[in-house]
Amino acid sequence: MIKPHGSDELNPLYVYDSEKRHALLAEAENLPSLLLNSAAAANAVMLGGGYFNPLTGYMNLADSLSVAENMHTVDGLFFPVPIVNLSNETGITAGSRLALRDPNVEGNPVIAVMDVAAVENVSEEQINFMAEKIFRTLDPKHPGVATFTGLGRTLISGDIQVLSFSYFQADFPDTFRTAVEIRNEIAEHGWEKVVAFQTRNPMHRAHEELCRMAMEQLDADGVLIHMLLGKLKPGDIPAEVRDASIRKMVEVYFPPNTVMVTGYGFDMLYAGPREAVLHALFRQNCGCTHLIVGRDHAGVGDYYGGFDAQTIFDEEVPADALELEIFKADHTAYSKKLNKVVMMRDVPDHGKDDFVLLSGTAVREMLGKGIAPPPEFSRPEVAKILSDYYQALDAGK
Ligand code: ADX
Repeated sequence: MIKPHGSDELNPLYVYDSEKRHALLAEAENLPSLLLNSAAAANAVMLGGGYFNPLTGYMNLADSLSVAENMHTVDGLFFPVPIVNLSNETGITAGSRLALRDPNVEGNPVIAVMDVAAVENVSEEQINFMAEKIFRTLDPKHPGVATFTGLGRTLISGDIQVLSFSYFQADFPDTFRTAVEIRNEIAEHGWEKVVAFQTRNPMHRAHEELCRMAMEQLDADGVLIHMLLGKLKPGDIPAEVRDASIRKMVEVYFPPNTVMVTGYGFDMLYAGPREAVLHALFRQNCGCTHLIVGRDHAGVGDYYGGFDAQTIFDEEVPADALELEIFKADHTAYSKKLNKVVMMRDVPDHGKDDFVLLSGTAVREMLGKGIAPPPEFSRPEVAKILSDYYQALDAGK
């Protein structure tokens, strides 16, 4: 099986031993508390589940700056995005032990215990430097830039022991998985070649076919549909609705035991190319050999070129940085000439009018009115679930 990033074995930071976990939870009650922001809590969940292997905690300032600049820590570990705990708290000192508290669960329970290695002030200039490198823009209207630059100016770094997977396990019991669990499930299936599909949206025909095309062209044993379960920008579709529609699509249109429908607990960064590389890294930790990267992967608005998230792998990721390979997908749509979903690069004789192309806004409007998009664009079973959601949403306004 493909090795995790940076180590031979996956080292999740979740404390699985129940005695140790109970002892830590008891200790945490008497430790000074730090209420995390959602981004830092999501990092804890990812670290806990082994997704960010081989990190052992939150990065310090030197590593964060170095990772932002050239995707390597000071010691040379490849990592695409700084994994940070930025805060507005000022009273914390290096050497202390902290109970990190979860902002996303009522009562703010302890999510992790932290050994604080350093507490560093981050200048405006350093925050902007990192944001510009990660997001390729400093536009405050970019949702990722707005979040990142608003997290705080105190960087609290150090190792953590994770005690909870936040709300993800309770809210998505059938879908939330750790990287450890996914690795184990892949091994149980006996799959060797596994292609991951990252998604934060419901899956229409193009997405469904992308999975099928990647599976066929790579001769893969299975597909890991791996959806983001954390926070999104306003207007994006909630995870439970996406989950239901994706499960329905897989149930009706894929042969049994070829697809795993799963999710991970992380907030969307909207960092386009850099996030695509992070996606690749953590799918390798899950045991996948390939990741589909299509058009405007992890993008938002028009901040990134349609295929920047592919070219970054050729231009900025050293050849030996990751073992996982990406499956580069071209713009995919239904061809009226061929009566099937195709990648545009495979049909050079086609013009724009030969495809069924619908904008997100047009689809949203149709679904809100209870009108099903054409079956060439969306499976009727998927359209029904999305339409019910939008109609309820619009009725409640
Ligand atoms: S993402 O932010 O998680 O990347 P989304 O769920 O919309 O967003 O996309 C999932 C994956 O499908 C990404 O790799 C994206 O590039 C790809 N994708 C989505 N739509 C198309 C399309 N029409 N053609 C090619 N690739 C696509």
